[in-house]
Amino acid sequence: MPSYARYNDLMNTQPFKLRREKLLQQMGSGVAIVPTAAEKFRNSDATYPYRADSYFHYLTGFPEPEAVLIMIAGQTPKSILLCRDKNAEREIWDGFRYGSQGAAEAFGFDEAYSIDTLTDKLAELFANQSALWYSVGFDAEWDARITVALNAVRSQTRAGKHAPATIRDVRTLINEMRLVKDASEIDTMRRAATITAGAHRRAMATTRPGAFEYEIEAELLHEFRRHGSQYPAYTSIVAAGANACVLHYIENDKRIADGDLILIDAGCELDGYASDVTRTFPANGRFSGPQADVYNLVLAAQDAAVALIKPGAGFNDPHDAAVRVLAQGMIDLKLLNGSLDGVLESESYKRFYMHRTGHWLGIDVHDAGEYKNGDAWTTLTPGKMLTVEPGCYIRPSDDAPETFWNIGVRIEDDALVTEQGCEIITSAAPKTVADIEALMRDARK
Ligand code: GLY
Ligand code: MN
Ligand code: MN
Repeated sequence: MPSYARYNDLMNTQPFKLRREKLLQQMGSGVAIVPTAAEKFRNSDATYPYRADSYFHYLTGFPEPEAVLIMIAGQTPKSILLCRDKNAEREIWDGFRYGSQGAAEAFGFDEAYSIDTLTDKLAELFANQSALWYSVGFDAEWDARITVALNAVRSQTRAGKHAPATIRDVRTLINEMRLVKDASEIDTMRRAATITAGAHRRAMATTRPGAFEYEIEAELLHEFRRHGSQYPAYTSIVAAGANACVLHYIENDKRIADGDLILIDAGCELDGYASDVTRTFPANGRFSGPQADVYNLVLAAQDAAVALIKPGAGFNDPHDAAVRVLAQGMIDLKLLNGSLDGVLESESYKRFYMHRTGHWLGIDVHDAGEYKNGDAWTTLTPGKMLTVEPGCYIRPSDDAPETFWNIGVRIEDDALVTEQGCEIITSAAPKTVADIEALMRDARK
């Protein structure tokens, strides 16, 4: 076994190679530059856990920092990686490095070189290319490196070399590709979803009045990690009582009271892919009447939205369906006055439901891909993955019935668009009142 067989003996690199080939075809001609993320310091010399750039990960699966993918389209398309050299001394301190030769063999690049050759390689590869496919403006250090390389070619015009005449955003092509998940992505996302659903079940099973929110967060993280998830996909929200009405509450440091509802929005990241799930449940295992009223309204809104996640629907159709159900329910619960048409027209429902019903999901929790093409919402087609996450948040106010004050509910699942409609890949986390109460009751026996 060669020394570089590390990640790769577990990882199928073929899907990454196929994506590179597809991107090269779509480019037609020119040279593309896709750098990975830099390591970032958190404080002093301690770094944040390293996470590759999402675009770079999508096209390579290569896990090390200080690397860049260069792709040359045209008659003899090729993919080139520049990465760190092997380094016996650094590998003692920080661990294994592929080195360029190991990376080329393990990940299937046509060529690979040391990242130390970057300046010269870029200038060499930019020369006489029609177009440079590079996303300007996301990383100032890479923008500067690209500028240096362009100017190096420009300085050689009298030697007959010319720099690319056009610069195009390579991410626009990759965004379209990322929108439709391939089989390997769907497999990873199903596994991430299953781990996350298990973590929500564990949270329901272990929550007791009197515990702190962070204790429940610890249960989630424990469940993510013990199943191989590398990180949470985003900072977990564990919000008890009134905290559930703060949409991005992440302090997670309050004591949970008997009678609180707890809203948990948490998902793991597995092998680069996010899951994104919200469940809301009662700390003591029994929904009160008003809590159940609001909860069942949000669940009905989610059902209405899910029914519209199918090929041919527009991205916004589930949102419109959820809003209709929520608005009527708010009228029925006397949170709002007036007619359904009036409430929809004035958007007064936004007092209690102020966010959207979903977003694309994938390598990023708010994943790449357009939501609109011109005036039309993006059409749902098989392989697209989106969340469906209606909610209702009732802060104390003079004109809302007091019985509903401080109730915040969101129910969020991850949906894969299929030929027939959609598959909810997070359905292992219970969400009817009866199923949640049964799970909590069983866990207390
Ligand atoms: N957890 C982020 C979101 O639901 O969009
Ligand atoms: Mn979420
Ligand atoms: Mn979400």
